[in-house]
Amino acid sequence: MNCRNRWAWWLGIALPGLSLNCAAIVLLACTLVIEMTAPVARAEVIVTEFGKTAEGTAVTQFTLKNSQGAVVKLLSLGATLAEWHVPCKSGQVDDVVFGFDNVAGYESKDNGYFGCIAGRVANRIANARFTLDGKQYELAKNDGPNTLHGGVKRSLDKVVWKGTPIEREGERGVEFKYASPAGEEGFPGTLSCTVKYTLSDTNAVRIEYEATTDQATPVNLTNHAYFNLSGAGSPTILDHELMLAADHYTPINDVLIPTGEIASVVGTPFDFRQFHRIGERVDELTAKPGKGYDHNFVLNNQTGQLALAARVRDPKSGRVLSVFTTEPGIQLYVGNFLTGAKGKGGKTYAYRSGFCLETQHYPDSINQSNFPSVVLRPGETYRHTCVYQIAVE
Ligand code: GLA
Repeated sequence: MNCRNRWAWWLGIALPGLSLNCAAIVLLACTLVIEMTAPVARAEVIVTEFGKTAEGTAVTQFTLKNSQGAVVKLLSLGATLAEWHVPCKSGQVDDVVFGFDNVAGYESKDNGYFGCIAGRVANRIANARFTLDGKQYELAKNDGPNTLHGGVKRSLDKVVWKGTPIEREGERGVEFKYASPAGEEGFPGTLSCTVKYTLSDTNAVRIEYEATTDQATPVNLTNHAYFNLSGAGSPTILDHELMLAADHYTPINDVLIPTGEIASVVGTPFDFRQFHRIGERVDELTAKPGKGYDHNFVLNNQTGQLALAARVRDPKSGRVLSVFTTEPGIQLYVGNFLTGAKGKGGKTYAYRSGFCLETQHYPDSINQSNFPSVVLRPGETYRHTCVYQIAVE
């Protein structure tokens, strides 16, 4: 019986006889006291308004907290991982991912895809075109001659998704949905996407992707979070130590398109099979335009089952990020294009002060027949899981 019904019930029996006896009053008072002091289920996902896009669409922020003092904030704009506050070895809590304080920041040119879901096809499509089932598709060029991260205006990072909090027993998170209409950014088929984020009590952010289509279309979704394990806004990530579970990588040409070769990492600056400082060999990579790591690694695990892909240790804070994925590849990008954008709380995101580990299929797969296919057909479901977990050592 809810509060209002209980009142109606008491009034119903008390008023007709006008015999409000003491026992009834005491009982009523007790009932109310019990109802007011009974533990109220604590809302684990806090939903707030974050502002409006330039077009006037409301953007929602979802706040998740766990028992370890970690806080994660997600935005419906781009289904973005916007904040991740997590303790270091001394117990100090810092936000370790890049983002902005307002929607205008996310919509500005300073936003290098901070924390968003990139797609429909993350990373590059050579010459902004592909052929599928005999038909050629032309896309927008937003990265020299290529298409980067799904296009220009309506790529998945730029649209507002519908977010629904998940507050099930032992699970807190948000499920984001967006249906991209056929032809959006030049891609065929209506693509129905679901991205579910959950935060565990072991400081793991789990991202589960699903997509279906009504027409054959390429799909490659990823999360583009920039991490600095000393806290976003710290001056560099070159002192972080990286391990990648990859014996091979995909070499690239001068516009960052894979040459098609699957090359061994042995004897190269790409050998992260043991931990190496990111900065140790980064300056051996002198090729323009990026100079530095901006490469896809071929993960040793190609089973489609969740497996460890990467670990990053920050000796200063003691934070250790582990990345697990079901995907065959991971893009290591070390912020070669960062130029000092001002982010959350006025923090500066300087050159090489953040790294991304984007779990994905290989760049330009739609044009490279020797790479695992990114084509999704009607009746099939695209599935991808990525887990970012932060521990302290
Ligand atoms: C990806 C690309 C980089 C760069 C960033 C965004 O990681 O591989 O070259 O474009 O996105 O700035």
